[in-house]
Amino acid sequence: MSLTVALSKGKLLSGTAGLFRMAGLPFPEDEGRKLVVALDGLRFLFVKDMDVPTYVEYGAADCGIAGRDVLLESGSDVYEPLDLGFGRCRLVVARPLEASADRRSLSSIRVATKYPRIATAHFLESGLSAEVVKLSGSVELAPGLGLADCIVDVVETGRTLEENGLVAVEDVAHSSARLVVNRASYHARRQEISALLESLRRAC
Ligand code: PRP
Repeated sequence: MSLTVALSKGKLLSGTAGLFRMAGLPFPEDEGRKLVVALDGLRFLFVKDMDVPTYVEYGAADCGIAGRDVLLESGSDVYEPLDLGFGRCRLVVARPLEASADRRSLSSIRVATKYPRIATAHFLESGLSAEVVKLSGSVELAPGLGLADCIVDVVETGRTLEENGLVAVEDVAHSSARLVVNRASYHARRQEISALLESLRRAC
């Protein structure tokens, strides 16, 4: 039976394709809207990035590639044996440029984010009272429209923040792509998973 690998078609896809090719592993060419592709002993699932840990935790996939940001948010119980080194980004608190210096206004705030779990934990730790509003994307819009005072979101190049008049005021976490493995598969299919792990480790 093929090893099943859960991937997302989001920002990590090109880095993942490059790494698999560098490692001499099969990787699908553009398969259009196909969500499952079988290729030379591997079966690839294309899912939403936030769902990769779920597919792996429940054993629908033996392994997967997800950002640390997504893994922290999901809280899924998966084995995380390898930092793949690409997809590096920061999770930050960002506010409108003109409000960034005013720390006093941070005592009670509304925060828009795709990462409610991470944001809630972060503000709890900071001792700030924050109402967290979950959005699915385009989070940078929220402060300008009065939906939130600030956001917690991923910054890679910084371009989205800049073009939407926001500035990062605090680091929350650092992220990069990780290989994750289902705990049962790791034992039951140890040889195949170790071989995949070794190939990827060498290509990192
Ligand atoms: C992510 C993230 C930021 C942007 C950061 O969004 O949520 O919006 O990328 O990248 P940058 O610092 O290089 O500009 P994504 O492209 O995944 O789209 P989304 O907003 O719809 O989630």
